[in-house]
Amino acid sequence: MARLRIDKVSKQFGATYAVREVSLDIADGEFLVLLGPSGCGKSTLLRMIAGLEDPTDGLILLDDNDITHRAPQQRDLAMVFQSYALYPHLTVAKNIGFPLRARHTPRARIAERVAEVAGVLGLDELLRRKPAALSGGQRQRVALARAMVRDPGAFLMDEPLSNLDAKLRSATRAELIDLHRRLGATFLYVTHDQVEAMTMADRIALLNEGRVEQVGTPTELYDRPRSTFVAGFLGAPPMNLFPGVVTERAGRLFLVADGIDAELAITATDFGGDVEVTAGIRPERLRLDATADALRGRVSMVENLGSEELVHFSTGTTTLCARAPRPAGVHVDENIGLRVDPADIHLFHPTSGLRMTWQEPEQDVHRDSTAEVVAVA
Ligand SMILES: Nc1ncnc2c1ncn2[C@@H]1O[C@H](COP(=O)(O)OP(=O)(O)O)[C@@H](O)[C@H]1O
Ligand SMILES: [Mg+2]
Repeated sequence: MARLRIDKVSKQFGATYAVREVSLDIADGEFLVLLGPSGCGKSTLLRMIAGLEDPTDGLILLDDNDITHRAPQQRDLAMVFQSYALYPHLTVAKNIGFPLRARHTPRARIAERVAEVAGVLGLDELLRRKPAALSGGQRQRVALARAMVRDPGAFLMDEPLSNLDAKLRSATRAELIDLHRRLGATFLYVTHDQVEAMTMADRIALLNEGRVEQVGTPTELYDRPRSTFVAGFLGAPPMNLFPGVVTERAGRLFLVADGIDAELAITATDFGGDVEVTAGIRPERLRLDATADALRGRVSMVENLGSEELVHFSTGTTTLCARAPRPAGVHVDENIGLRVDPADIHLFHPTSGLRMTWQEPEQDVHRDSTAEVVAVA
């Protein structure tokens, strides 16, 4: 069992906060990915959980035991780092068995565990080799095996795939997903790579400047981003974000922006006047359609991705991107029409960047005059 609870944990280095009041509840057996841009505090948070860094504030609980100030070796956790840090003079078998030798486990038991773990990770044939005679992917698996040998409740991994080339990274990703399923252990995994996060995570915690911006399943973060930061971080290319106005005509609401006049999937009762918003549309949700008039623009560039094309176009002052099957059949300077499903238009507050809650279908619309935000009734 390993349920990890992070309760308002902060870490200050001098005057700067690396991590600020982060709270997370990670279920036993969950694969949680800490995602975010470089410098947002992912490693610092993981290192505090591992016991390699002391929090300035807050609590870390493992199965209801307060481990906030416990030594790393007294936590039932194993850490796998970006650099594998294998002992070069030791064989693979000795590297894997190292944590058990350090704990004075009987030799027969060490040999048994090393064989078991090597079997799980397909390292049986490599046990007598030294790290120098291994590929990057094999070294990475040895580092994982060394973490697994103690059978810890939870694995903490800090960008373990970042030193691998693209092909190996994708293969190892699949291996990790499989390994997690077979072990049923709790995985806490740090990465700045959205593809790793989207493909591996049960849930993603997206960090921004030391704070949790949103926690949820990959689908939740992708389909219902809580803020423009989340919308802009996930997706390649990311969500188109542009200024617009929500306006009412005969009880129906429309998004109006440069070159855009599109009906929204929300209805209004007592809407009041226009509301300024930051609108968001994912590139793959824009469909080229010569007859469409809700959204029109002029093509500025077409990028060939092989299977698809990215069509960049401008609608007056705004430049947007549409992702289309290849060939898109449009050329630079052409005037194009695009279709967008009303449900695919996201609306965010223009200054706070937060998702506007009145988009939710079950919610009624009213205006909150104090906050200048249209909010849930
Ligand atoms: N030992 C340290 N001393 C001072 N500042 C640090 C230290 N470790 C990390 N930081 C700062 O804390 C912030 C978060 O760093 P880090 O946790 O490594 O981010 P990430 O892993 O998301 O890239 C950065 O601004 C970094 O410069
Ligand atoms: Mg880091």
